[in-house]
Amino acid sequence: MCGIVGAVALRNVVPILLEGLKRLEYRGYDSAGLVVVDDGHLTRVRSTGRVADLTERSATTTGYTGIAHTRWATHGIPSERNAHPHVSKGQIAVVHNGIIENYEVLRSTLTAAGYPFSSDTDTEVIAHLIHRHYARGNSLLVATRAALAELVGAYAIGVIASDCPDQIICARRGSPLLLGVGVAENFIASDVSALLQVTRQIVYLEEGDVVELTHQAYQIYDKQGNQVERAVQTSELSNESVELGLYQHYMQKEIHEQPQALANTLESVCNSQSLVPGIFGAEAAATFADIDSILILACGTSYHAGLVARYWLEDLAGIRCNVEVASEYRYRSSVPNPKQLIVVISQSGETADTQAALNHAKALGQPHTLAICNVPESALVRLSKLRLLTRAGPEIGVASTKAFTTQLAALFLLTLVLAKSRDRLSVRQEQQYLQELRHLPAAAQKVLDLEPLIATLATQFADKQHALFLGRGLHYPIAMEGALKLKEISYIHAEAYPAGELKHGPLALVDKDMPVISIAPNDALLEKLKSNLQEVRARGGELYVFADADTHIHEVDGIHIMQMPEHAGYLSPILHTIPLQLLAYYVALQKGTDVDKPRNLAKSVTVE
Ligand code: G6P
Repeated sequence: MCGIVGAVALRNVVPILLEGLKRLEYRGYDSAGLVVVDDGHLTRVRSTGRVADLTERSATTTGYTGIAHTRWATHGIPSERNAHPHVSKGQIAVVHNGIIENYEVLRSTLTAAGYPFSSDTDTEVIAHLIHRHYARGNSLLVATRAALAELVGAYAIGVIASDCPDQIICARRGSPLLLGVGVAENFIASDVSALLQVTRQIVYLEEGDVVELTHQAYQIYDKQGNQVERAVQTSELSNESVELGLYQHYMQKEIHEQPQALANTLESVCNSQSLVPGIFGAEAAATFADIDSILILACGTSYHAGLVARYWLEDLAGIRCNVEVASEYRYRSSVPNPKQLIVVISQSGETADTQAALNHAKALGQPHTLAICNVPESALVRLSKLRLLTRAGPEIGVASTKAFTTQLAALFLLTLVLAKSRDRLSVRQEQQYLQELRHLPAAAQKVLDLEPLIATLATQFADKQHALFLGRGLHYPIAMEGALKLKEISYIHAEAYPAGELKHGPLALVDKDMPVISIAPNDALLEKLKSNLQEVRARGGELYVFADADTHIHEVDGIHIMQMPEHAGYLSPILHTIPLQLLAYYVALQKGTDVDKPRNLAKSVTVE
């Protein structure tokens, strides 16, 4: 979603802003822009194209202080006039992430006060509001604070003024923002990856913080207006981890990084001889002893991880588990249970609905909370009592891949720890599962060998309009994830069904133009699944079966078999995800879509 970069330095900051925007492209955007202070004037460049286009357009732009933005449209269509930065009276420029809820009222007041609006955005009210306070003789800091006090909603903002050549004001409430500390230069950004080019010294801002930066120093004020110190942390993100290297797309790179990502996520556990609740935090043992059920809240791919976990948790740990889409839970009346463990799952830790759902759950009097997240400093991690960090490394492709499989690994650990704490795991079983987890990265690596086969198979999908994914039990959510991947990046309409539901509707759709993709692990439901597949074949449907080696489903006319290297028992969903990711990727390549930045989608959905 929208991204912010800002820099105040003793050198031209335009290349820094552009490189930062490039590194934020993955968040998803539809327009981009920047503004610099140049000799007492604001010079603004905007584009509805890619950052590369903005780079061309700003070839002659220079300035020592500037702010820049990638926009993902919420109020107003994607267009140059709606692109940020927004400027008031040629004097104040603002970039903003988030949503201002009372912008209509403010817009009428400001229009009546003589402020002409040149965009349809909610952001423009911020620029005019700051200008109004600034024109009354306040400093830029005071004017910004006064403007923020009038806003209802969520924001991260960066502000500059034409007559403040060495100053940026920034603030956050409800949207992420951090500072980068350099040598005689300072920066702001929505996420660390934008700043690795210039610094690793990072200050994560807290809710309500307002900051004044010059090239030499920065002062942070908390929501009460008190000057505060916030720790400077050294980011351990490597530059390579956000670079494409030899791969054609980030999605391809991230699919291939899964063995390592799984190994990293499981490292501490696999190196030990037994599982302990402490991996979820100091209070985990006491919390787990007090809970009687689990509620998992998440969005998108992370929600699918939760759906898999429900099968594990009820089966192995014998604990009741519900899974709900965060945007539904936050707005419905539910019956709170203070003994329920609320588990939020999120790659980014920023997703607005998941964050709101967590806050809602807490407000209902449910104190036991656990975040499974890939970003250590994120809001969700900070808001939860317990946490388990997936260590997938930065995920740039909008379609989530390695974040998902590492979430599954983390959720399997949760299952085992809870099973153990409820005396449902013998020492022998514990050792056996630990051994299977140790083997998981190597098993994932073997699945990647299917890539050339899947690339060939994908050619048969490129002209299709629809696809049906079938799975049963643990693999039904994997069918859902496969369908989501295909629709996200190839724009082929795809649906997933539990195979047992086939006869209750979707069978009516099956004909030779509707490919049916089935996940057929060698588990207890295999024979039932085989009957479902016969039902498809009998209607002339073309079947693509991802089968384990010993399932004895044979390749005949109309049935294409992709043989998985081995059956992984309870961990099978993790391995079966990988070929479906590859399938979506190669179909998208065939169709020539923008794989890493699919149309209309964003990586971090920081607005409702
Ligand atoms: C967006 C992304 C998805 C992701 C979902 C939830 O829709 O495009 O890939 O699964 O948000 O994001 P989270 O960061 O909370 O896992």
